[in-house]
Amino acid sequence: MFNNKEVLVTGGLGFIGSNLCIELVRQGAHVTIIDNMLPRQGGNLFNIRDIVGNVTVNISDVRNQLSMNHLVKEKDYVFHLAGQVNHVDSMKNPLQDLEINCQGTLVLLEALRHFNRDARVIFAGTRGEYGSSVSLPVDEDHPTNPKGVYAVTNLTAEKLVLVYDDVFKIKGICLRITNTYGPRHQMAHDEYGVFNWFIRKAMDNEEIPVMGDGRILRDFLYVEDLINSMIKVATTEEAYGNVFNVGTGIPVSFFDLARKIVAVAGSGRTKFTEFTQERKEVEPGDYYADITRIKKITGWAPAISLDEGIARTIDFYRQFRREYW
Ligand SMILES: NC(=O)c1ccc[n+]([C@@H]2O[C@H](COP(=O)([O-])OP(=O)(O)OC[C@H]3O[C@@H](n4cnc5c(N)ncnc54)[C@H](O)[C@@H]3O)[C@@H](O)[C@H]2O)c1
Repeated sequence: MFNNKEVLVTGGLGFIGSNLCIELVRQGAHVTIIDNMLPRQGGNLFNIRDIVGNVTVNISDVRNQLSMNHLVKEKDYVFHLAGQVNHVDSMKNPLQDLEINCQGTLVLLEALRHFNRDARVIFAGTRGEYGSSVSLPVDEDHPTNPKGVYAVTNLTAEKLVLVYDDVFKIKGICLRITNTYGPRHQMAHDEYGVFNWFIRKAMDNEEIPVMGDGRILRDFLYVEDLINSMIKVATTEEAYGNVFNVGTGIPVSFFDLARKIVAVAGSGRTKFTEFTQERKEVEPGDYYADITRIKKITGWAPAISLDEGIARTIDFYRQFRREYW
C-alpha cells in the first residue's frame, strides 16, 4: 500500500514513530524522520537500528518553520507524532508543552499550506482529550474536558488539523489513542507509559507500584495494533476529515494488569501505593474506548490479546534491555 510512497514521520525516533517507520519501510515506503531527541522522552536511535540504512533521519524540531517547509515537500503522507508526551511535565512546564504540541503542529500545517497541500496528515492525539468519562465506553461524541495541559494541547492540535482540512483542504485524520505499550518504549523512568514501567519492575523482580486501590479501568493497546490502525486510516479515503478512537474497547484494571504482568514475567510483585499529588491532579479515572467508528469506516480491529502483547514486550526487553534501562 505504501510502496514507493514518500512519507514524513515526525517524532519517528520515539516509541510509536519508530514502530511505524519499521512497518512503512517493510511496505516499501521512502521514509523521512524528523525528531529533536527531546530529553527524557522516547527518542532512541536504537529504535531504528533495523532500518537505519533505509530511512533519512533529520535531527530537527517541528517548531522550526524552515526545516518543516523543506521536509514536507513532495511527501504523500505526514504522520505527526512529535510531541511533548509527559503529563506531569506538561503541568510543570506548560509553555514548553504548548510550544511543541500546538505551535509545532501549526508550523507543520503552515508548511503544508505553502508547500504541499496534497499531502495527507495523520495526527496522533490522545484519549486524554476526553478527560473524566461521563459514560462508558467512550465514543467520539463524548464531551471533551481535558484534565491537564497535555490533554488541552492535544485537543487544540487536533482542532488545528481539522480546520486545515476544512479550510485549506489539506486532508487530515485525528486519532485519540488509548494507553499503548510494547517494544521500543522508553523504560528509564515512570513519568509516562505506566504499562511499560510495570514491565520493567516485574523484569527487575521489584515491587510494581499500583496507585490507589488499583481498580481504575483502562484500555491497553499493543503497539502493533496501533500501527496497523494508522496504516489503515491513512489508506482509507472516507477516513479523512474524521476523529477516531483507537483502543481495544476492553477494560482492564491496573491491579489486574500488574497481576498479569507478574504471571507472564514470572517475577516481580504488586504493591499498593498512594497517588502522588501530581498524578492525582491529572488522573481522569476509568476509560475504555468505543471503537465502532474506526471499525465501521476502515475495517480495522485490534488483533493482539493482552497476554500475547505482554509476552512479546517482555521478549523484546529481555533481548535489548541495556538499550532501554
Ligand atoms: N504512547 C501512548 O500511549 C500514546 C497515547 C496517546 C497519544 N500518544 C501520542 O503519540 C505521539 C508519540 O508518542 P510516543 O509514545 O511515541 O512518545 P515518544 O516520547 O516515544 O516519542 C515522541 C518523539 O517526539 C520527539 N519530539 C518531541 N518534541 C519534538 C519536537 N519539538 N520536534 C521534533 N521531535 C520532537 C521526541 O524526541 C520523541 O522521539 C505523541 O504525540 C503522543 O502524545 C501516545
